[in-house]
Amino acid sequence: MTDASVAAQRILQLRSELDEHNYRYHVLDEPSIPDAEYDRLYHELKALEAEHPDLVTADSPTQRVGSMALSAFGQVKHEVPMLSLGNAFEETDLLDFDRRVHEGLDLPAGDLFGGGAEVEYSCEPKLDGLAVSLLYQDGLLVRGATRGDGTTGEDISANVRTIRNIPLKLKGEGWPAVLEVRGEVFMAKAGFEALNARQLEQGAKTFANPRNAAAGSLRQLDSKITASRPLEFCCYGIGLVEGDLPATHIGILEALKKWGMPISRELKLAKGVDECLAYYRDIGERRASLAYEIDGVVFKVNSLESQRELGFRAREPRWAIAHKFPAMEEMTELLDVEFQVGRTGAVTPVARLKPVKVAGVTVSNATLHNMDEVARLGLMIGDTVIIRRAGDVIPQVVQVVLDKRPEQARAVHIPEQCPVCGSHVERTQLVKRSKGKETLSEGAVYRCVGRLSCQAQLKQAIIHFVSRRAMDIEGLGDKTIEQLVDESLIASPADLYKLQYAQIIGLEGFAEVSSNKLLQAIQSSKKPALARFIYALGIPDVGEETAKVLARSLGTLERIQKALPEVLTYLPDIGLEVAYEIHSFFEDEHNQQVIASLLGECGLELQDQSELGAGFTACATLAGLLDKLNIPFVGPGGAQKLAERFQSLEALARADWLDMRQTLPEKQANAVREFFAAAGNLEKAQAIEAQLRDFGMHWQSEKKVVAGLPLAGQTWVLTGTLEAMSRDVAKEKLESLGAKVAGSVSAKTSCVVAGPGAGSKLAKANELGLNVLDEDQFLQALKGYGL
Ligand code: IVH
Repeated sequence: MTDASVAAQRILQLRSELDEHNYRYHVLDEPSIPDAEYDRLYHELKALEAEHPDLVTADSPTQRVGSMALSAFGQVKHEVPMLSLGNAFEETDLLDFDRRVHEGLDLPAGDLFGGGAEVEYSCEPKLDGLAVSLLYQDGLLVRGATRGDGTTGEDISANVRTIRNIPLKLKGEGWPAVLEVRGEVFMAKAGFEALNARQLEQGAKTFANPRNAAAGSLRQLDSKITASRPLEFCCYGIGLVEGDLPATHIGILEALKKWGMPISRELKLAKGVDECLAYYRDIGERRASLAYEIDGVVFKVNSLESQRELGFRAREPRWAIAHKFPAMEEMTELLDVEFQVGRTGAVTPVARLKPVKVAGVTVSNATLHNMDEVARLGLMIGDTVIIRRAGDVIPQVVQVVLDKRPEQARAVHIPEQCPVCGSHVERTQLVKRSKGKETLSEGAVYRCVGRLSCQAQLKQAIIHFVSRRAMDIEGLGDKTIEQLVDESLIASPADLYKLQYAQIIGLEGFAEVSSNKLLQAIQSSKKPALARFIYALGIPDVGEETAKVLARSLGTLERIQKALPEVLTYLPDIGLEVAYEIHSFFEDEHNQQVIASLLGECGLELQDQSELGAGFTACATLAGLLDKLNIPFVGPGGAQKLAERFQSLEALARADWLDMRQTLPEKQANAVREFFAAAGNLEKAQAIEAQLRDFGMHWQSEKKVVAGLPLAGQTWVLTGTLEAMSRDVAKEKLESLGAKVAGSVSAKTSCVVAGPGAGSKLAKANELGLNVLDEDQFLQALKGYGL
């Protein structure tokens, strides 16, 4: 055989394997290989096709990436019109429909005592997307079209080809020579959220709901954009057919599934209208937990012969009906925008709405997130807005109906004073540092500067302080905390420890036993681990993970309290902004007093305090410091050279030109000199160095092997399932040995622990030739460290 024919054979084999995996993944929902293996086959096919472009065919799985942008869509005439459906809103509407079906088929209707004939109906969810027609000729996808006005639609062939679960070629055999498949293109909830998050990040426009996102993604003249969007297809019927098909609607859908078409997993047969109603209720209850949005269910007479007998009325079939759920979106008026104050003082706009029923629940407030969101929506008080309530999430304002804006509409302004305590409200600043300069930009959040003197912040701060993952004081609910603050019994977390029995028993809902229990819970919270305590303080942007990093790296509260922002940025996952938050929290006099009081008169004893973490000692090097200074043109490599050559900051700052030139090229050498000549820079570097010294570091220690924890400086990745322990426990064990546990594999990963089911991370680790342990080997290794 020639090379080309070997390649041709392999290409065919790869395509058929990939098609099969696609089918198992998208249609059967039973993937049989990990994603990484799929990717490997896919890339092999891509490489072979690149070598043999003449062997590329339109039905190859590689042809889903979109093609040249069009200047306009062509028109497609639907030989069999694409109809719409009549709606039922109430149960009685559905009973009327069933009665009409009985009459049309000359069947006896049931009476009060049941009896009569029961019609068989297919039941399917009504997906909220766009109707699409797919034409297959001799099993190959040749055209995709939108519904348009039902008679003429747009040719979106290039776009539908990019949708992963639409087969480019039908599977198996027995399909009609001409087969038009109809169904809905939609976007699942998760895909929609991810797309909007991506759009926001890129400063692009976001979509109000998954339906708009699906429509906006499908009707793109540039199909490469469509290819990048998480669209899916679900088929629910047929149009033009030349050939034989089963005699029932469900039979047809099952045949289509066999040929590779995705159909709804919720497809059911109902015998009689009562089973239809039960189906409607069941799906209705599960609506919020479905992966995609639906606006109702569709019932269709199952027998095709009966469908033909019933026929059509105007543009709706007499044999099908959509039973709608209450709408998720409604229009109402924005009466006002008020401002709420959260735990960290963030002042958040909240929409006060003219009450409106959305999907059965009366909505009178909606979150607006922040002032950037208000600006993005272009919102004014008095506007008519569209409110959306998806599942259990807080209602949102998704759009302003500009046509309805009244003349007296008013702009929304952030208040200058905190609505709760009257303190000044400031816009947060984002700190960015590049090329040795710090620049401040405006953040999206406004904050009340009142801190704990603001009752709103105080309440939230205490609710957080006592919560389970913080100080874990049981028996202190939100309402009780509000009462304690309102009655001025506490003005800071420290006051909790001064509460007396007589004060507690006076609170709503407290009797002798519960009061004693609460006092006991407060007492037993007095020995928190350092990380818990840091988390409990409620420093903005410091969650549990960051609190753990701070505790593990710096070891004592004292070091954390005085750490300079630049020093904090040595710690894993702490950027300059968070570092500034931490620093300014501890600089605040009021916070200092509260902490002093907790540790002093309240008698808190922090546990697990330790030496400077080995990981920290390993990364706080002179080269690291020089790199952090962000000297223009000097990257990590240059910083390393400077550190090796000069060994100390003083020597570097005093270095003569010749020395410098021997170390770095002219442009960089100049930049270093200019940097240290500029006011403040040397002082800042010296302050960082002094602090590191104060913490027990000295640059000479760089060369020494880090004493202390055995896995210090290493990064481990856990993937797949572990049987002997949860991943959390495995992570804790590794961290206690000094390792950092990361979520993704890179060339810098020291070791990967792969349990059963490990997928792409394991593949990547193998590709990079990393050290991989299975669970047994991992347990063995832990044992070696006495764990
Ligand atoms: S059947 C002749 N089944 O609803 C029957 N439609 O209001 C034509 N839709 O344009 C449609 N899920 O976009 C049918 N399971 C389903 C559906 C469904 C969503 C949409 C479709 C159609 C509209 C009709």
